[in-house]
Amino acid sequence: MRILAIETSCDETALALLEATGGLTSPKFVIQKNIISSQIAIHRPFGGVVPNLAKREHLKNLPILFEEMEKEIGKKKIDILAVTVGPGLEPALWTGVEFSKKVLKKLRVRNPKLEFIGTNHMEGHLYSFLLSQKTVNSKFEILNSKLKKLFPAIALVVSGGHTIILRVDSLTHWKKLGETRDDAVGEAFDKVARVLGLPYPGGPEIEKHARKGNPTFISFPRPMLHSPDYEFSFSGLKTSVLYYMRDNKNANIDDVAASFQAAALDVLVKKTERAVRGFSAQSIFLSGGVAANTALREALSAKAKEFRIPFLAPALMFNTDNASMIGVAAYMSHLRKKNRRITAQAHLSL
Ligand code: KG4
Ligand code: ZN
Repeated sequence: MRILAIETSCDETALALLEATGGLTSPKFVIQKNIISSQIAIHRPFGGVVPNLAKREHLKNLPILFEEMEKEIGKKKIDILAVTVGPGLEPALWTGVEFSKKVLKKLRVRNPKLEFIGTNHMEGHLYSFLLSQKTVNSKFEILNSKLKKLFPAIALVVSGGHTIILRVDSLTHWKKLGETRDDAVGEAFDKVARVLGLPYPGGPEIEKHARKGNPTFISFPRPMLHSPDYEFSFSGLKTSVLYYMRDNKNANIDDVAASFQAAALDVLVKKTERAVRGFSAQSIFLSGGVAANTALREALSAKAKEFRIPFLAPALMFNTDNASMIGVAAYMSHLRKKNRRITAQAHLSL
């Protein structure tokens, strides 16, 4: 099936065209085109995403990106049109949903049976582990024999808006074990970066400075590390960094970044480890924007080695927001015969 996917939930305008085959037993994806127009430079002066600016930029970018995509589509028949309906920033989601309705009219002229699927952004992140095995011609596949052996898996989905740990029993069933009670971990990276005077988005900046610093220099709190659940909390850690910087004006920001990152990742890794042990998991999945963090990938990959189970994380370009993962999730929705109302749903849950 050929899928065209549209993603505008936050500050990336993204379109993707992909070919999906294999069904639920051995899904395979060939990404034919993956385009992203990042708004980072626009939001940077404000230190974070400004929803109405994001809306304006999406409105400007969508037709440009679609024109580029039309060249790739040519005379090809599209079977599924997918659009992110939530969760995300309401004005940003709205632009994608409204634009997709116009695209639908155009594409249905050629294929009246075209399916229109409203996609959950977090399902996109969750399923993006299927985009982890990059082979020569951009074909992503997990063989059936291998796929079955991955479950139950423990999935850690970490982004700017969410921090969720799940037990995944199959490609169609999962259970949320816990999530953050306050700030998402990506949000904590972004806020701490601001305290340290680093530009938005803070994640990559903190990581860059952390590489040069001493992770044991300051012993920041590890919130909820020992709580007997799978919940997280990152706002206290962020506040500790704020107080540290207030009291230590000449602090070396490399050491502060390294110590903050060590504390945040420690909680993520230890809770994942406990879930793997508790549910005898057969693999670990990591995804979402924060999964681009090399230290986190390395720490979880090392844990998986200790347990002698596979570790799967998307290829780097599919960690932060993109439309290919939305296409993958839409294919799964199609197979599960599951659809959603095609309207912006800012608080849609996983
Ligand atoms: O998934 P994503 O692109 O958007 C949301 O759905 O939120 O995630 C963006 C988040 C931001 O908070 C950003 O700072 C964080 O991912 N991030 C990172 C890294 N790269 C992006 N956090 C830590 N280390 C990174 N290398
Ligand atoms: Zn995201």
